[in-house]
Amino acid sequence: MYYLQKKLEKHISYAISTAFNDKIDDYLNPQLVPATKPEFGDFQVNGALALAKKLKKSPHEIAKILIKELEKNKEFNVLCLPPQIAGPGFINLKIQNNYLIQELTLRLEDKRLGVPDASSTFKKTVVVDFSSPNIAKEMHVGHLRSTIIGDSIARILKFRGFDVIRLNHIGDWGTQFGMLITYLKIVAPKALSKANVLNLGDLVDFYRKAKKHFDEDIHFQNQSREEVVKLQQGNPESIKAWKLLCDQSRIAFQKIYSRLDIEIHERGESFYNAYLQQIVDDLQDLNLIVTDDGAKCIFLDNIKGKDGRPLPLIVQKRDGGFNYATTDLAAIRYRFTSQPHGDGANRIIYVTDAGQSSHFASVFQVAKRANWIPKDCFLQHVPFGLVQGENGKKLKTRSGETVRLKDLLDEAVDRARIDIQKRLDNEQREENQDFIEKVATTIGIAAVKYADLSQNRITNYQFSFDRMLALQGNTAPYLLYALVRISGINRKGGNLNVSTNQLEFHKPEEWKLIRELLKFDDIIMEVEEELLPNRLCTYLFELSQTFNRFYDQIPVLKAKEPVKTSRLLLCRLTRDILKKGLNLLGITTLERM
Ligand code: ARG
Repeated sequence: MYYLQKKLEKHISYAISTAFNDKIDDYLNPQLVPATKPEFGDFQVNGALALAKKLKKSPHEIAKILIKELEKNKEFNVLCLPPQIAGPGFINLKIQNNYLIQELTLRLEDKRLGVPDASSTFKKTVVVDFSSPNIAKEMHVGHLRSTIIGDSIARILKFRGFDVIRLNHIGDWGTQFGMLITYLKIVAPKALSKANVLNLGDLVDFYRKAKKHFDEDIHFQNQSREEVVKLQQGNPESIKAWKLLCDQSRIAFQKIYSRLDIEIHERGESFYNAYLQQIVDDLQDLNLIVTDDGAKCIFLDNIKGKDGRPLPLIVQKRDGGFNYATTDLAAIRYRFTSQPHGDGANRIIYVTDAGQSSHFASVFQVAKRANWIPKDCFLQHVPFGLVQGENGKKLKTRSGETVRLKDLLDEAVDRARIDIQKRLDNEQREENQDFIEKVATTIGIAAVKYADLSQNRITNYQFSFDRMLALQGNTAPYLLYALVRISGINRKGGNLNVSTNQLEFHKPEEWKLIRELLKFDDIIMEVEEELLPNRLCTYLFELSQTFNRFYDQIPVLKAKEPVKTSRLLLCRLTRDILKKGLNLLGITTLERM
């Protein structure tokens, strides 16, 4: 009811200004908020209290005057029943049934389900920097969180009408490549001259072995350092080896992305190499750089170390090498630069664990001081907490190792398969293997994604297969099942594709569902603003519960016309919103399960 709220705000502001215009000289916010309880109506105006203070009158008196003013307004009366005063001077508003039906009718015919399209006013480009694992290192649960949350944010912003660029800022550059290439030369020198000689298999294991050599063998260490230099100088053989290693990791990452249905464009750290020196030179020209013990750094404002002194952000090390932060500065410039020399972004969103908050705060500050953030553009770090095991500690396997993403997804699917098999046995239902496989995969992946998204991302989250796969509660299986129920109506002969003509509602269960359905746009706008997908999850869960109560308590298929069609249409809109909502969370839905 986004537009409705805007309309009401306008009417109330108008009432304030006509009633008190000569007595207040600034704009007074009507403070219109959704009602906290259904018995209070739909909205509540809290502004009378602030006005009362200003005008030195009782809030009750002010509320009375405002209501009188509002009731003179014909347009307002079409929207609301006569307003009621509650408590010391709050005004409760209840929307007219006719108006709710009018809104409902619009949504039944609207592909966007009531959500305004931002691109109709202006086109904006948003970069979402997410997932971003590191070559030759394990893609861990932190990267999984970033992938799931980032994907959902990108989907929501795209649906709202923004141009979204999904970037994978993978760690594909750095000193570890010296070590990897040196090791590759020992174990498979042929791989450097011929294609497809080598199956590196598990690159993470390869990395571990190379690191062992590095730590134990001084000769290997020296060689590795030389390799880094060669690579940085663009030596063709080194570049070839580096590419080979990147390709290998890419295959592993891509497998995970395919399973999770993630679309992402790779533009790793190495892409910005060519811009790094310029970044340091420009910062130098701006007089922001201080050389401290040979390292070039910027001392940060208001970000202090333990000793109370301002912390430095190092952009070039003593040996001339650049840092993670230097690359991020180059990336900011590139992303804000207009196309075709950059991305032309207006907003850049970074989805990483909260541990990187101070890194981003520092980088954003330097970008700001260097004037690299164009007018009306902004940078946003979207942090999230740790993934913990059920014991509240860091997530580990039983034998104490870090959990591999592949194993984690496999287990979710395996457990979902066992659940389905049990359900089928109980219901004495026969289904073929393809069906079981499809349902198990969909539910397993959905459960992992939903469990993550339904938590407020800022807090740590406890990973539990049992909880995420439960058919009851705020879980993916519960939501998927609500959709399956609606599909069932269709199979039982209820035609959901009837046209919208005469709508008629009498029951509180219907009105409750209608009000819930009309909230979809508010929720999407809220998520866009706060980048908290858990709000959408809570909404979809409440919508499913409200729908289930409606469907359990009043007849749909057995109702008489025009009530039957009206109820079928509520089922259809519920289906469309649930489907769209789950799609925005990156979750595939099912017709049957
Ligand atoms: N590769 C980094 C990591 O694994 C995440 C990169 C996030 N994006 C960025 N522009 N710094 O922690």
